Amino acid sequence: MNLDEAIRNRKSVRQFLDTPVDRALVETILERANLAPSGTNVQPWHVHVAMGAKRDELVSAVLAHRENAPQDASAEFPRTSKRKEPYTSRMRQLGKDMYSLLEIPRGDERANFNQWGRNYKFFDAPVGLIFTIDKDLDAMSFLDIGMFMQNIMLIAHQEGLGTCSQGAWNQFHTVTRRVLSVPDDRFIICGMSLGYADPNAPVNTLVSAREPMSSFATFN
Ligand SMILES: Cc1cc2nc3c(=O)[nH]c(=O)nc-3n(C[C@H](O)[C@H](O)[C@H](O)COP(=O)(O)O)c2cc1C
Repeated sequence: MNLDEAIRNRKSVRQFLDTPVDRALVETILERANLAPSGTNVQPWHVHVAMGAKRDELVSAVLAHRENAPQDASAEFPRTSKRKEPYTSRMRQLGKDMYSLLEIPRGDERANFNQWGRNYKFFDAPVGLIFTIDKDLDAMSFLDIGMFMQNIMLIAHQEGLGTCSQGAWNQFHTVTRRVLSVPDDRFIICGMSLGYADPNAPVNTLVSAREPMSSFATFN
């Protein structure tokens, strides 16, 4: 697979098969992803790989916790972004397209709650990745972790695996921290599901829209 093909064909997978993923393959993906660039080469990424019994323990603990609290009371790290256009329309469009593929009617709160909750089962993927960052690093290093994550997504895709990045995981940072023994000096910033995509799941046919280049590029 060449790079252009990988970039064009990768898309988020939200229904996985229970086919196990070899630990050696996960290690290969992470070793190659580690070649991501980072500002002054600080390599700020740390990833907690949840597989097997630990993955199941994490899923059970978060889902149990979520039945009583929709999310942790305090944010894991400052998230001050305001909902405004054009971003809200794009979010809404994604939600509309996804929920129509899932046949979840608008306003069905329980079905919505359950579907969002599938994030915390890693959409049935056998491998869950939780990305953390040292609390003393700044926004520049968050960029670096994004690049590391993108490498993982593209390499996984090349290896025949699917992924879904999941900001959802920082909503339950307290339980996640406890189960995975994440040190207190690190923020839990994002999760990612990793596994073999279910080829028959309608949700996996979702192709999200992109704005034209003229809307985001300014040539001076
Ligand atoms: C940082 C980040 C966080 C995300 N969080 C979630 C999430 O919590 N749950 C989810 O289903 N998808 C999540 N996504 C997937 C996005 O919705 C998806 O990347 C976007 O709609 C574009 O679709 P594509 O990945 O299929 O190209 C996240 C993606 C990124 C990059």
